[in-house]
Parts: sequence; C-alpha cells; structure tokens
Amino acid sequence: MKITEQIKLPIAQEMDLFEEKFREAMSSKVALLNRITHYIVNRKGKQMRPMFVFLTAKMISQGVINERTYRGASVIELIHTATLVHDDVVDDSNKRRGFFSINALWKNKIAVLVGDYLLSKGLLLSIDHNDFDLLKIISVAVREMSQGELLQIEKARRLDITEAIYFEIIRQKTATLIAACCALGACSVVPNDTETIEKMRKFGELIGMAFQIKDDLFDYTEDAIGKPTGIDIKEQKMTLPLIYTLNHCSKQEKSWVINSIKNHNKDKKRVAAVIQFVKDQKGLAYAEQMMIEFQQKALHLLHEFPDSQYKSSLELMVNYVIERKK
Ligand code: IPE
Ligand code: IPE
Ligand code: MG
Ligand code: MG
Repeated sequence: MKITEQIKLPIAQEMDLFEEKFREAMSSKVALLNRITHYIVNRKGKQMRPMFVFLTAKMISQGVINERTYRGASVIELIHTATLVHDDVVDDSNKRRGFFSINALWKNKIAVLVGDYLLSKGLLLSIDHNDFDLLKIISVAVREMSQGELLQIEKARRLDITEAIYFEIIRQKTATLIAACCALGACSVVPNDTETIEKMRKFGELIGMAFQIKDDLFDYTEDAIGKPTGIDIKEQKMTLPLIYTLNHCSKQEKSWVINSIKNHNKDKKRVAAVIQFVKDQKGLAYAEQMMIEFQQKALHLLHEFPDSQYKSSLELMVNYVIERKK
C-alpha cells in the first residue's frame, strides 16, 4: 500500500465527504469563474492540509469530529488554493500540479481575481457559520503568509538573506498555514482547551518548516514534481541550500554566485553551474539535515499524546513530508 493511502485509512470517509464539500464551496454562478474553479478542482493537489486537520481533530477527540472540522478543512484548502493561484503570478510560473497554471492559461489579471474570489469564499464559509474562533486562527495565517511573501521579495532584491531570515520567511509563508490546520483541527473539537490547541499549532509549525525546506530542495532536482524546477535562482529567490553555500565558500566564489544570480539569472548554463556549485558545496545535504531537525522536533511533540490509529497516521504524515516525491 502506498504511504499516502495508509495515512488516509483512518480518515477515508472524512476525506471523501470533504472533497464533495470542497467542490461545492468552490462553485460560482459566474460562468468564467465556474470554468476556472472546475479546472482547479479537477487537478487536485496532495490535500495534505485537510489531512492534517482531520487527523489532528480525530487524534484529540478519539475519533469524534463535527461540522466545524469539515468547514475548517474546506476553508484551509480554499485559502491554500488561492495562495497557489497568486503564487504562480508572483513567481511567474507556468506550471502547477503537472498542468498549466491559471496565469498561464487565463493571464495574470484573471488569476489575481480568482485568487481573491477563493480567499473570500473561504473566509465567508467561516463567517456564515459563526466559526469565529476558527476564523481567528485562519486570519492570522493569511496575514503571516502575505507578510512572508513580501519579506521574501524584499530580500530577493538585495540578495543579503541570512539563515535566520530564511527561517522567518518560510515560517510565515508556509509553516503558519500548516500550523493553522493543526490548531484549527484541535479547536474544532476542544474549543476551550487552549493548551492542546497551542501544542498542535506548534506541531504544525515545526512540520511546516520541514515541508517548505523539502519544497525548496525540489527546486534543485530534475524530478517530475508537477511544477518547474530551477526557478528559484531565476527569480533570485535565495533558499537554504544557496544561503549555506554562500556562507561557506571563498570570497571570489561568493562574488561569482552573487553576480550569476544578479546579472545572469536568465542564462540557463550559468544557472545550472550555480546549482552544481551548491551541490558540490554540500548545500543540499545541509538543508536536508535542517529539515530532519524540524521533522524530529515535530515528531517529539506527538509523543505526549496517547497512542491511537490517528496518532500513527500523523506520525506517518510527518515522515511523508520529508520523503515525498512531489
Ligand atoms: C505547495 O504546497 C506550496 C507550498 C507551501 C510549498 P503543496 O505541495 O501542498 O501543494 P499541493 O496542494 O499538493 O499542490
Ligand atoms: C510557497 O511558495 C507557496 C506559498 C506559501 C504561497 P513557493 O513559491 O516556494 O511554492 P511553490 O514551489 O511555487 O509551490
Ligand atoms: Mg513563491
Ligand atoms: Mg512558487
């Protein structure tokens, strides 16, 4: 059995019902919007965020979840989808989930508006049902994600990013949404247990950090991950393998790398040479090591909870985050 199937075993029914509800939440009466949202739901992603929501909720409540949990999962996936649609505009990327991105097919203008539409649909789903505690968790994540993206752009301009700033960027742009999944999953079943909610938020944040480091490592591979590789350098985005390399090479090498990124980032051969240099300097190995550190910390937090099939699935999920092939 595939690891993803194994993870989903204790939440199979929930994921099926979620898909139905998610589809419904995406729909629109505007023909163009409906065409685009159909295009999106027919090319679904890994759905790791709703999986985190359901597994967390079920682990904490010993299997008893409610409508709030479902709505929370839909809201998070809507927001995640909105940010991906926007992200491909920001990163000028033409591929997502193995197909053309929305901006590639319908242009930036439409992609921006569709992203906004999905975001508002998500927020309204919470508001319409008075899930204000969940809405608060979600809104914090939305704010942080925007800040993280802007911080990333600011640093890309100056090419002077440190490891600490990189970790802050990925915490904001990626880890906060996964933290929100776990906090929300907990909050949907034990709304007054702030201690448990906070523990699960922290768990999500840690595994979210590992998740983005893995995503940044993908950019250095040639694997079929369903989106372009090698575009971070082209977009002057400095991620952990590169940051490590810049901090551990000679002055001349550093100047060559910086000059390549600044002035030759559209030159495929030069970008390939930089990628090779990062590999030779053990940049990937270092990033992998940091990823495992975050993953281990996340795993450790789970030990406090009593054993159950849900906990076992979450543990598998934590491993899947760093071992996945896309
Ligand atoms: C991609 O997230 C965006 C990042 C935060 C790196 P996923 O890898 O979860 O995307 P899908 O939903 O499976 O396509
Ligand atoms: C992650 O950013 C996506 C968001 C947090 C919005 P990236 O630009 O690194 O993600 P991918 O690799 O395009 O999915
Ligand atoms: Mg991006
Ligand atoms: Mg991107």
